[in-house]
Amino acid sequence: MTGELSPIDTAKYVAARRAADMVEDGMRVGLGTGSTAAWLVRRLGERVRDEGLRIKGVPTSTRTAQLACEVGIEVVSLDQAGWLDLTIDGADEFDGDLNLIKGGGGAHLQEKIVATASDQMVVIADAGKEVETLGAFPLPVEVIPFGWQTTRTLIEEALDTMDVLGTSAALRMNGEAPFVTDEGNHILDLHLQRIGNARQLALVLNQVPGVVENGLFIDICDKVVVGYGDGRVELRDINAGTIELDQLADGAGENLFSDLAD
Ligand code: A5P
Repeated sequence: MTGELSPIDTAKYVAARRAADMVEDGMRVGLGTGSTAAWLVRRLGERVRDEGLRIKGVPTSTRTAQLACEVGIEVVSLDQAGWLDLTIDGADEFDGDLNLIKGGGGAHLQEKIVATASDQMVVIADAGKEVETLGAFPLPVEVIPFGWQTTRTLIEEALDTMDVLGTSAALRMNGEAPFVTDEGNHILDLHLQRIGNARQLALVLNQVPGVVENGLFIDICDKVVVGYGDGRVELRDINAGTIELDQLADGAGENLFSDLAD
């Protein structure tokens, strides 16, 4: 790659790079899915190659598994790892309590299992993902293909009693065909606009027959690394109540990225 990154990619890159520094020799690390997580995986691959960092990576999707192998990270399954020291993943939205919407990439089922099986979950995100109230980003819900239309009706009925502004559920498509997850399921994207009580909604959705998992991550994330287009990066720790600031790039076209393969 040329090193010319857009502000949004700079933000994702610096967040990923800062989070990659949290990974220590010998750790078992959950590897998230999505464009921000891909920067993380590439950076960890670089550390494996250049510093001899020894880690076991547990990917949260087939595409992350493929990338992790390509960059030289030792990949193991969650069951082989047993429990993880740290999971680092992107998010579609995060709020001030570090509750999240995930699943824009359709991988939130594995992502939630892996994050929950970790001592710590760190989210990496560009600053545009921060919201006061979750819900502008459509909430992904993974459903089994059998009777998915009935499941959708049941979800919409349940939403009528929830503190949300919208109740429509759209089947995610991949071209002409329904999108299929790594587990062979479909995704319904709920257009809610605003989620008044995310904790309650997460519980209610998972009680609907046919629902496998929703994309709300409540009380799972411990820290967020927020990247900015000018190369600034902020590490916020919800438990310690601390914020650390760093500058990882000058944001003026500086070629910091030429060592990373596409
Ligand atoms: C994948 O299913 C998602 O949960 C991603 O983590 C989320 O969509 C963030 O993706 P980007 O980093 O590409 O924005």
